[in-house]
Amino acid sequence: MKQAVSIRSERPEDAPEVARLLKAAFAQDPHSDGRESELVEALRRSDDYLPRLALTAENEAGVAGFLMMTRGFVPGEGAEALPILILAPLAVTPEAQGRGIGSALVAEALLRARAAGEAGVALLGDPGYYGRFGFEPAADFGLRFPFDAPERYCLALALSPAFGRCARGVVKFSDAFGLNS
Ligand SMILES: CC(C)(COP(=O)(O)OP(=O)(O)OC[C@H]1O[C@@H](n2cnc3c(N)ncnc32)[C@H](O)[C@@H]1OP(=O)(O)O)[C@@H](O)C(=O)NCCC(=O)NCCS
Repeated sequence: MKQAVSIRSERPEDAPEVARLLKAAFAQDPHSDGRESELVEALRRSDDYLPRLALTAENEAGVAGFLMMTRGFVPGEGAEALPILILAPLAVTPEAQGRGIGSALVAEALLRARAAGEAGVALLGDPGYYGRFGFEPAADFGLRFPFDAPERYCLALALSPAFGRCARGVVKFSDAFGLNS
């Protein structure tokens, strides 16, 4: 059953609730390193933080879902890298899962990203989930991720023709992900 939620950009006072939510949601994920909350804090402190694309979903119990998109890059057509978005993390509290909250967060983030003229989005996630929003294997765009992960989980979505035309090579994640050291 779908649940009515209110989606908005996060506020500083949401941070403790978001941290609790990430802990509870990722405790169920066998691929999790349990450090999503630290990652989110590092992303907030970084230049790659995009406040309009850090979203909370609230129900009557409080913050039930959270999604963050931050700045990333792919090699562009010329010398300039093409700015893209990295979607990570996405989480819904265990008791509120399966009611459309994750989908509503992704839909709102994509709406905002398109409205802002963003070129595309990349993420590491389950194609069974993200396929419904149009995400396809990043390899189909000629993109690789800067870490070892099964190719089928490396996903991308073009929001503009520029992405399909010139996205090639390795996706650059924010330094806050700790991948570039
Ligand atoms: C993944 C997650 C964000 C989905 O949020 P949600 O609010 O439960 O999702 P929705 O209600 O919008 O969608 C539910 C649908 O997604 C499916 N789904 C949920 N997690 C999935 C997964 N990992 N792989 C494939 N499908 C998944 C459900 O089976 C359900 O399918 P249905 O619509 O055919 O019944 C949530 O389950 C979660 O926080 N999980 C733990 C954290 C996590 O794994 N996050 C990383 C996502 S890559």
